[in-house]
Amino acid sequence: MNKALRKAVIAGNWKMNKTRPEAAALIAELKPLVADAGCEVVACVPFTNLETVLEAVKGSNIKVGAQNCHFEKSGAFTGEISADMLAEMGVEYVVLGHSERRQYFGETDETVNKRLTAALAAGLKVILCVGEMLADRENGITGELVALQTKIALKGVSKEDLKNVIIAYEPVWAIGTGKTATAEQANEVCAIIRGVIASIYDQEAADGITIQYGGSMNAKNAAELVAQPDVDGGLIGGASLKAVDFSVIVKAATEG
Ligand code: PGA
Repeated sequence: MNKALRKAVIAGNWKMNKTRPEAAALIAELKPLVADAGCEVVACVPFTNLETVLEAVKGSNIKVGAQNCHFEKSGAFTGEISADMLAEMGVEYVVLGHSERRQYFGETDETVNKRLTAALAAGLKVILCVGEMLADRENGITGELVALQTKIALKGVSKEDLKNVIIAYEPVWAIGTGKTATAEQANEVCAIIRGVIASIYDQEAADGITIQYGGSMNAKNAAELVAQPDVDGGLIGGASLKAVDFSVIVKAATEG
């Protein structure tokens, strides 16, 4: 299937950055810069910014996402937010399984699967993050590792529901380090993940799924990365906090 037929998605992962006034200002700056984007543009913002950003993006092509959700619908889970709570607000996307959640907050492939299932049931679109640590790459197990992460996260997900899942390949050694995977490395692993999707579902599902690269993607290296045949956009951390840089990446995906 022609890459051009798949939807490229450029999603900003703001992480734990921006107060509400700062968030509103960033969206206001971004709106005109990405108004003619030929790809999907998403801002994944802290929970405290969701209402502000949902209001700020009105009348624009920017979609709004959260950065996590819990797997239960409600109950005694202090500090957590459910998928239903996000959906009710009008949030469209949620990032799940980010390596920072896995590293610092005890996320496992199993809890990622539970969160993903809950998010899809609530009608959210999921950006599922997978990726290897540097030691995994050095040990030559990158392919096996991302295959396992992908398979466990998608356990029990139907082919129909898969249409609401995007996968972000994010090598942990490239996140926030300024050390980007080469375009070839990024494409190789995105292609492996696509093969895993074909093995779980079928070729049609594999051809249709959006697979992003993430990890120090910026205004300078984005064009080469998103031009790769199996890279359908990006999940952007640091560079998503600067409107102009983010818009250059959106432009690259529009052309790529
Ligand atoms: P980075 O983060 O672009 O700052 O490397 C990417 C991410 O963690 O999604």
